[in-house]
Amino acid sequence: MKALVIEHNGEPSEVVHSRDLPEPTPGPAEVRVKMLLAPVNPSDLHVIRGRFAPQRQPELPASPGSEGVGIIDAVGSDVPRTRVGERVVLLDVPGTWREQVISPAARAIPVPAAISDEDAAQALVNPMTAWAMTMLEHQLGRGDWLVQSAAGSTVGRLVLQIAKAEGFRTVNLVRREEQVAEIQDLGGDIVLCTADESWPEQLKKATGGNGIVSAIDCVAGRTGATLARQLAPNGCLLVYGALSSHRQTDPAAFEMPIFAPALVYSGAEVRGWFLFSWLARKGVSEGSQALRGLLDRMAAGSLKPPAARRYPVDRALEAFTAAERAAHDAKPLLTFVEV
Ligand SMILES: NC(=O)c1ccc[n+]([C@@H]2O[C@H](COP(=O)([O-])OP(=O)(O)OC[C@H]3O[C@@H](n4cnc5c(N)ncnc54)[C@H](OP(=O)(O)O)[C@@H]3O)[C@@H](O)[C@H]2O)c1
Repeated sequence: MKALVIEHNGEPSEVVHSRDLPEPTPGPAEVRVKMLLAPVNPSDLHVIRGRFAPQRQPELPASPGSEGVGIIDAVGSDVPRTRVGERVVLLDVPGTWREQVISPAARAIPVPAAISDEDAAQALVNPMTAWAMTMLEHQLGRGDWLVQSAAGSTVGRLVLQIAKAEGFRTVNLVRREEQVAEIQDLGGDIVLCTADESWPEQLKKATGGNGIVSAIDCVAGRTGATLARQLAPNGCLLVYGALSSHRQTDPAAFEMPIFAPALVYSGAEVRGWFLFSWLARKGVSEGSQALRGLLDRMAAGSLKPPAARRYPVDRALEAFTAAERAAHDAKPLLTFVEV
């Protein structure tokens, strides 16, 4: 079987190689999944470069890839044979850039027929991040407000879809004026552009001077620091990315100075949030329940990942280039089967 493999960390164009590996055999409680599609997410490129969370850097050699969709083509002795032929997405089974992936049976989650392969392949990383932070961590209800940065990002747009379905309202930060109308059209209640120096004042007004109760931030730097400074008493900011650092190439931009009195006197909280730590804490049963819930929403049409483009696995370098282009190009998906 074909597999994309890294033996060293480095630039994806230099260190990712196609290898022919022996067909793997599932253990008793495992299934073998013949992969259809696996996305190239920015975090996969961080893994290849050796810049991801240390606990998520695989021992090398290894295949990158953090999610994907495929068909079960073999099962272990403890798994019902009826699962062969099931279309599944993988719940935190790293190494999906392979023609065949071995997964614990409990982590191979069936996909409803109404969902396209393209959407199913992207069901985990971004939709689960958007859902878990808003609905499970902040526990937003109808009429609550959320402040989010990088509202035009994939996660930001999924948050807007969840807000529409669940009835919470959003204050959205974007960095380009052209995006204001676009995010309003997607249902953003208030949209502020950080290119306008007065945005912190506008944000204060938007929260009625009472401060931010719930926020999520993937920009960090000055943007994140401003959100932290405006937290309401007992407010909470979840920091889940650092886009200010320009694809992790500017270490100085990882800094996010916190105005201590804003926390000390108010009990407000700034907390890091990382999908894979959250999934590990929740365990397979809760994680798979959350993923099934997202798949049901996708099948019902209330949650839709971004448009995608397929790249045959022998054109992976083109997929990497596409993944590094400006956001909102179609999401590159590696394909492992001839169509
Ligand atoms: N912690 C976790 O578990 C977790 C899970 C998923 C994603 N993430 C993180 O979440 C972030 C968003 O991911 P994604 O896949 O949704 O991103 P994406 O679709 O690639 O979108 C990036 C967006 O961020 C904006 N942006 C880029 N640099 C910016 C900056 N310096 N200041 C303000 N906005 C900036 C871009 O704006 P323009 O449109 O103007 O270019 C674009 O809208 C990333 O940092 C990713 O690593 C974290």
